[in-house]
Amino acid sequence: MLKTIAVMTSGGDSPGMNAAIRAVTRTALHQGVKVWGIRGGYHGMLDGEMFEMQSKDVSDIIQRGGTFLGTARCKRFNTPEGRMLGYKNLVDRGIQGLVVIGGDGSLRGASILSQETGIPIVGLPGTIDNDVWGSEYTIGCDTAANTIIDAINKLRDTASAHRRIIVLEVMGRNSGWLAMVTGISGGAEYILVPEEEYDLDEICADMKEQYDKGKRYILVVVAEGAGKGYEVGKAIMEKTGRDTRVSKLGHIQRGGSPSVIDRVNASKLGEHAALALISGLSDIVFGFDRGHVVSINLHDAVNNKKKLNPELIRLSKILA
Ligand code: F6P
Repeated sequence: MLKTIAVMTSGGDSPGMNAAIRAVTRTALHQGVKVWGIRGGYHGMLDGEMFEMQSKDVSDIIQRGGTFLGTARCKRFNTPEGRMLGYKNLVDRGIQGLVVIGGDGSLRGASILSQETGIPIVGLPGTIDNDVWGSEYTIGCDTAANTIIDAINKLRDTASAHRRIIVLEVMGRNSGWLAMVTGISGGAEYILVPEEEYDLDEICADMKEQYDKGKRYILVVVAEGAGKGYEVGKAIMEKTGRDTRVSKLGHIQRGGSPSVIDRVNASKLGEHAALALISGLSDIVFGFDRGHVVSINLHDAVNNKKKLNPELIRLSKILA
């Protein structure tokens, strides 16, 4: 049984990370285990920016977006020397195990650190992209999707008023999940995702036909991995001759107070991570499968590519 653990967030922040940190911290303290917070992701590990946390350190954070520990993308951690320095900083403080909350890049780093040093590590999937293999859910994806939906609702008002085509580019890196679920739930006519080839000529011919039949406006959701919104919008305007406007939500979709789903799921995952790590388990990621918390092998999670559910792609085509 471990007596001292640490928790950190890494990579892009996501709403609900605070709820996960809080759950890890309070679960550990409840077990009589000391818990340290590492500031600024792997940077903080390498620079020794860590502090022992008490219950009050995680008060008043469950409702906040971002991560109160801070996060970063750290190039130095990609070298064996960097990782050894980070490991030494952990050992010097008596830290025996680590919970890493982050996306696939951060979990990959965690997997290498554990292989090289043997330090027990449990990962939690924290990213708005919902692209971690083995889990149907990642912390923050629900809030981000709701933020996008709010934008889509507003864009529909103005698109309808002007009978325009509106293109909205959303995040997701190489994953089309955010675009797909928000496109379906926002009633978009076209959803462009990296997982599916699309033909802009065909789409534009179809758009023209729709307008001729009396359609008032058209909404296109583009995943950043499927193309740049401004380029897609320009091409559509040229090919259809219709007034087209483009919005790129950018980092607005990463922030904001976490949804109930993100808070509850992050809390459940945080508790599982702390208990597993304390009991001596390592090299696992906790995620969700059909609504239940499941553990996934860390190596598998970072070495497999999650696929976009084909059922969603099929449904989007029927409903458009
Ligand atoms: O992985 C989360 C994410 O928001 C991606 O959707 C996006 O491509 C990327 O991070 C943006 O990263 P940064 O905040 O470093 O610009």
